[in-house]
Amino acid sequence: MTANRVLAFFINEFRRRLAAGPAPVVAFRPRPYRNAAVRFRPSSPDDYEGRLELAERVGLNVFAFPADKLPGCDLLSDSGTSTMTMEQWSQLLLGDEAYGSNEGYFELRAQFAATFGPDWRQPEKSVHNHFFLFHQGRAAEYALASVIRDCLSGPSPEKDFPAGEPGDRLRPRLERRRRRLGVETSLIIPSNSHFDTTEANFAHAGIAPLNLPCAEHAAGRTDFPFRGNVDLAALECLLSTRGDNVPLVYLTVTNNTGGGQPVALENILAAAEICRRFGKPLFLDACRFAENAWFIKQQEPSCSGVEIPEIVRRMFAPVDGFHISLKKDGLANIGGALFVRPDGLFARLDNGRLLDRLTSHQILVEGHPTYGGLAGRDLKAIAEGLRTVVREDYLCHRVEQVRRFGARLIECGIPVMQPFGGHAVYIDVDRFFEGTGAKDEELRGISLTALLLVAGHRLCELGVYAFGSCRDGREQPPDPRVNNVRAAVPRLAYEDQDLSACAEALRVLHDHRDKIPAVRVDHGRDSSLRHFKSRFGFV
Ligand code: F0G
Repeated sequence: MTANRVLAFFINEFRRRLAAGPAPVVAFRPRPYRNAAVRFRPSSPDDYEGRLELAERVGLNVFAFPADKLPGCDLLSDSGTSTMTMEQWSQLLLGDEAYGSNEGYFELRAQFAATFGPDWRQPEKSVHNHFFLFHQGRAAEYALASVIRDCLSGPSPEKDFPAGEPGDRLRPRLERRRRRLGVETSLIIPSNSHFDTTEANFAHAGIAPLNLPCAEHAAGRTDFPFRGNVDLAALECLLSTRGDNVPLVYLTVTNNTGGGQPVALENILAAAEICRRFGKPLFLDACRFAENAWFIKQQEPSCSGVEIPEIVRRMFAPVDGFHISLKKDGLANIGGALFVRPDGLFARLDNGRLLDRLTSHQILVEGHPTYGGLAGRDLKAIAEGLRTVVREDYLCHRVEQVRRFGARLIECGIPVMQPFGGHAVYIDVDRFFEGTGAKDEELRGISLTALLLVAGHRLCELGVYAFGSCRDGREQPPDPRVNNVRAAVPRLAYEDQDLSACAEALRVLHDHRDKIPAVRVDHGRDSSLRHFKSRFGFV
């Protein structure tokens, strides 16, 4: 073979492998970035006894375990845990810390219009503010829930749902939801699934957050690519029966509570059409919008070959507003925002007074609308993050890394939710402990996360404890039932070797699952948001 033919052969081989679906564990494709700074871990992997002692000292609560004592993967959250790019660090240095209307504010506002589409531009001459900055996503949720409670909570008569499907399903679900969250007003905000803080913020404002995941998700269909979809029939039934009680409809993209599963563009458009028919504003909880767009590009025929930025614009075109935690797909360590579309339905509700209330709320709680609880330098780093997050090489690496981790867990025998979500792998606790006779009240999901701390890795229970509650001494399980332990992968932070080490630790636990002890709750069973506060002990 001549040299040229050999080179052509290799190029062909490289190209073939690059084009082929990545192998389950080994990636032929190099990472689209390299490490520009690293941090050596301060603790030794061998110190199992030290970690056990610490875990017991903090009542087996993963949130309370000191991060610097983890030698392995900290998969507690993908929120605010991104490794920032050098471009973002350089923007931090260029931060303008003026009290009003700092440079970063204008840059970020312009970047929102560039990322989400020209409709998401704060109108130059409007006396109303449409773009609200917050220090993180839940502050935006709190503001929104508060103004809805203050402006839109007049009593409305409650019509009963029609007999048959899906009314027969909605009736008891709404009742259980209200009972579990102690919500007494008639207001309801439906969603494919609310995240825990969103749910808690609406419930705190007396609004019942109702989850309407699609039937494919409820049935656990592993072959269905858009398990984050909302149940359109249930949404339509709700709006046609109790529309007067619904101030707003939400879609969470991707659906964190339901496994980080994406929502199809077709589903967003269909939900928007239903909302339009009933005159209801549709909002996105847009924390992981770019990961969602990536799945749409891969799986939705109408979008194959369409560029990610264009898919993002199509996702946001039919909605009336959105809130976002910029700690996820803003690739930043802090930040949140709420945007109300200037020409949308929500902006017109209550004769525009909602916008004025939101602005007052923001000034009272967070700071002037042009910095909203953030430093000027943060705004510039977020703007830079929004430019990076829609890069195809970044998104391919990001979603593929999570998928490879999931595949590795399956090889280790761990039952996980499939298809894999964009930011996390969800371990199915019910299947993990199948055949061991484990009961809900023994909280094996909590045991699992506690033993993983000892192994040096941190995951988080999002199941019967986090999403259940205790009312009048009785446990109310989540409805619909979810019982997962989540491994959320921080962006640009870990290599496959780290994740593989975590998978191996889980393998050991799964191989000996019948020996995993139950835990008891020592403190906090009755409190709201109890998984953040509770203390447990091994039985
Ligand atoms: N909405 C979704 C879908 C989220 O996942 C989160 C946060 C929020 C809203 C709230 O945003 O944290 O900036 O206040 N999720 C993190 C997690 C905490 O670990 O999943 P925040």
